[in-house]
Amino acid sequence: MTLTQVPHHIAIVMDGNGRWANKRFLPRIAGHKQGVDSLKRCAKACDARGVRVLTVFAFSSENWQRPAEEVSGLMELFAFALGREVAELKADGVQLRFIGDRQGLAPKVLRGIESAEATTAQNTRLVLNVCFNYGGRWDIVQAAARLCQQGLAVTEAHLNQTMSLSHVPDPDLVIRTGGEQRISNFLLWQSAYSEFFFSDLLWPDFDESALEAAIESFAQRQRRFGKTSEQVDANPPAKE
Ligand code: IPE
Ligand code: IPE
Ligand code: MG
Repeated sequence: MTLTQVPHHIAIVMDGNGRWANKRFLPRIAGHKQGVDSLKRCAKACDARGVRVLTVFAFSSENWQRPAEEVSGLMELFAFALGREVAELKADGVQLRFIGDRQGLAPKVLRGIESAEATTAQNTRLVLNVCFNYGGRWDIVQAAARLCQQGLAVTEAHLNQTMSLSHVPDPDLVIRTGGEQRISNFLLWQSAYSEFFFSDLLWPDFDESALEAAIESFAQRQRRFGKTSEQVDANPPAKE
């Protein structure tokens, strides 16, 4: 048993599927298919390590700008993978949530989302938030618009309650694979005090040992939330 502090909530920008496929002279969609397997492996490894919430970026608001063939391939793959995986996810105690703008999604995709959420709603072992047609700016705007509709003041507390991840605490650790070091409109609001870990591995190659390395790195950090080191040392955060 290790004493490593395990992040409660890990969020991941699963980047590098296209390059993984290109390197093998395969169509980009082959990389996305491999990416689904990598996500399954990662979710199991998170569960085994005691992580309770995993949030992944699967399709951004901006990804609609990709070639039509890739977009339609991704939509097909998403609907297919959902149908194929939901029984195993249910048996594994995973609660699936889909985060993002549902307007503009094809009926087949919407049906898959709604049925997967209903099937796994009672599960409590691991919450898996799949950000699909998601953008951090969209999230802030939709929350602010809802507050206005309800006649509520735009305060930090009200926004927190209305953001799309209000059912979970903010991510402790944000991982991005694929070598880029940018946020690409991911959890702009929720990552205010997250620790960041960038991996050069392409998402399909991100395995259990890579996850372990990210968790180890997280365990070395001192999170100060604006305070001084001395203050944090004197009053360390309570462990779960
Ligand atoms: C991430 O992989 C998955 C999606 C954006 C859907 P990419 O498709 O961005 O892979 P690269 O960055 O082109 O290698
Ligand atoms: C971010 O990756 C979105 C997802 C992983 C779904 P991108 O590949 O779209 O990001 P950029 O365009 O390189 O910033
Ligand atoms: Mg990319």
